[in-house]
This record gives sequence, C-alpha cells and structure tokens, in this order.
Amino acid sequence: MKKTVKDIDVKGKRVICRCDFNVPMKDGEITDDKRIVAALPTIKYLLEEGASVILMSHLGRPKGEPKQEFSLAAVGQRISDLLGEGVIFAKSDVVVDDAVKAAAADLEPGQIMLLENLRFRKEEEKNDPGFAKDLASLADIYVNDAFGTAHRAHASTAGIADYLPAVSGFLIEKELNFLGEAVNDPVRPFVAILGGSKVSDKIGVISNLIEKADTILIGGGMAYTFIRANGFGTGTSLCEEDKLDLALELQAKAKEKGVELLLPVDTIVGDKFAEDADKKVVSCDKIPEGWMGLDIGPKTQKLYADVIKKAGTVIWNGPMGVFEFEAFAGGTKAVAEAMAECKGTTVVGGGDSASAVKKLGYSDKMSHISTGGGASLEFLEGKVLPGVEVLQDK
Ligand code: 3PG
Repeated sequence: MKKTVKDIDVKGKRVICRCDFNVPMKDGEITDDKRIVAALPTIKYLLEEGASVILMSHLGRPKGEPKQEFSLAAVGQRISDLLGEGVIFAKSDVVVDDAVKAAAADLEPGQIMLLENLRFRKEEEKNDPGFAKDLASLADIYVNDAFGTAHRAHASTAGIADYLPAVSGFLIEKELNFLGEAVNDPVRPFVAILGGSKVSDKIGVISNLIEKADTILIGGGMAYTFIRANGFGTGTSLCEEDKLDLALELQAKAKEKGVELLLPVDTIVGDKFAEDADKKVVSCDKIPEGWMGLDIGPKTQKLYADVIKKAGTVIWNGPMGVFEFEAFAGGTKAVAEAMAECKGTTVVGGGDSASAVKKLGYSDKMSHISTGGGASLEFLEGKVLPGVEVLQDK
C-alpha cells in the first residue's frame, strides 16, 4: 500500500502535484475534461488542508520543444472554472525559470499555480535528474495523481521522488484499488473481455489474465488471428500471420490452466473498411474471400452477454469491432449493455474502451472507468508502474 495525501501533514506546505491533464483538444478547445475532473478531489483536499498547490502535467507529444498548440493555458482556465478559484498560469517555455521559482515561493496557502507543459523540455521524458531537481525545488512535498502517465518513468513522474517526500493522490489510489482488486482479489466468476486490433498489443494482458481469470472473451480485430490459427480462412480481415503460433500457444495455456478462452462464433463482415460497406453475418469458419470481419456477430454477442451478466467481476479492454462506424458498433454496444446489467464489479480500461463506453452512453453504469489507456494496459499485464513504485509505502 502506498501513502496518500491523507498520510502526511500538508498544512502550510507547498505541494507539487503531477496530474494527467493530457486531454483531447480541437481548435484550442478541450473536448473531454474527464481527466481534469478526475484530478479535482486531490486538488480540493490539498487546498482545504491549507496547502498551496503547484500543478504540473504534459499535453500531447511536443517532443521537447515549446509549441503553443500544446500549451496548458486552456487547461488552467478549465481547472479554474471547475473549482471556482483563480489558477495562476506560470507561462514559461522552459517550464521552470527564476520567475516561476519566485512565483512558487510567493504562493499563499489555498493558492493554485499551474506549470506549462512539461514536455516543452526534452529533459522531462529523459527523466533528467537536473530537471527533476528543478521541479522539486518549487515545493516541499510531491504528490503523484497522474495515473494515466504512471507507466512512464519521466522527471515529473519518477525522478522528482528522489528529492521530495512522495505520496499518491486520490485518483491513483482509486485506480489501484479498482484495478488491483479486480485482478488480484476478484469476486468470481472473473471475466476478462479483450478486444482491439492486434494480438501483439495484448499478449502481455492475455498471458497475465490467463493466470487469474475464469473466462476470457476475445473480440475485435485480434479475434481473426485466432480464427486463422485454428485453420479457417479470414478473407481480408486483420490478421497477424506471424502471431498464429502465439495465438495457439495462448489457447493451449488457457486450456492447461482451466480457463475458458472464447472466440467469436459468428462475425459481421463488410466488403470494405467503411461505414457504408455492404455487410452480412457469417459463421467464423466461413468468412468469405474478399470480405473483412468488422464486428462480432449476433450469436457471439448473446453468448458473451450471457457470460458477462453472470460475472462477479468483469474487466474490459479493447472494443469488439469498429465501433466508430455505427454499422459495426453492435458488438461493442452489446458488451457495454451486458456490463451495465451485471451486478458484479465492472471495470473498463482506459483508451478505446473508455471512449466506446462514453460514446454509447454507458459511462455512469460502470463501477470504474480507468483514466489510463497505456497505464491500465500495463497494469493488467502485471507490470510495476514506475510512477507508483517511487511513492512511499505505508
Ligand atoms: C495517455 O494519454 O495515455 C497518457 O497521458 C500518456 O501519454 P503518452 O502516451 O504520450 O505518454
């Protein structure tokens, strides 16, 4: 267990808090502020306890250069709107300079300052000790609440903990509780739903969950690699020819462990990768030449939904089909619907699955939707997240 902000005295202290404000933007406007909202409980707590708060984050991938389209100015404004408090935006192309240091030193308890995009500096992603020390020099305590970036060992997520007492915020605590409990101490039956386009992206997750789950449901583009590995034609569907042996190995491992690994029995194929493709339902052992699988079929949807509804714990990572196209969103929708009806704990990994749940309108029906895409994937692979590892143990 890691220490949280509740385990230390922050009164009168300057607290530097790493958040994941890497939010989607369009034409300078934030299009989804879920990650900002998710950071508010920690920020509010620190302010209420009499700390002054220095927030920091990355936004996008400016590759170590100050690029104004990646400025955190709009994020500062949104935090201020949500909190109803002014946020001092420390505008600096180098993130920390003498003026920023002076402004941090002048902060009064209850005041908030936001630094400019950490990735304006090359040193951030290199986990450069000098930059980490510079960031640390602004504060007395370091809080990491950036679950979405906890799989990165950067100056602001890892290095800084060498120079300050380091604890977690409430978001990291909540993510670790939900994901950790689901994976390591699940109410059974424990069902994992794994989709997405490539087996190669999900090898680690499938291997790790074979050790823990009772049933694994496979969907999305990667299902066709499994289908081909089992000797069936897959037309023009996505297929990783070099992963056929691996797919069979994973199936064999599941069998050996007594884990049910289910593949789609039918699929919705299209004659091209497009919203207006001609489509039909076919059995997975009869995918015609020239057609590509773009979603799981109705029999599979029912089969998977029945398993999901009876689960004690469900973890979902990766869509079942091309949900961005309405015509091929049915499988992903059926899974989301079944999870919404499930009485057990339902956890959605970040990234595409979280976007699908939001787009389909089921966000408030899930026990937990992770704010971390890559981070939740690495957690489900059983990896240690560097941004968590550096925090003090209880
Ligand atoms: C994310 O969106 O997954 C995190 O903010 C991490 O971003 P990154 O993949 O650019 O490190």
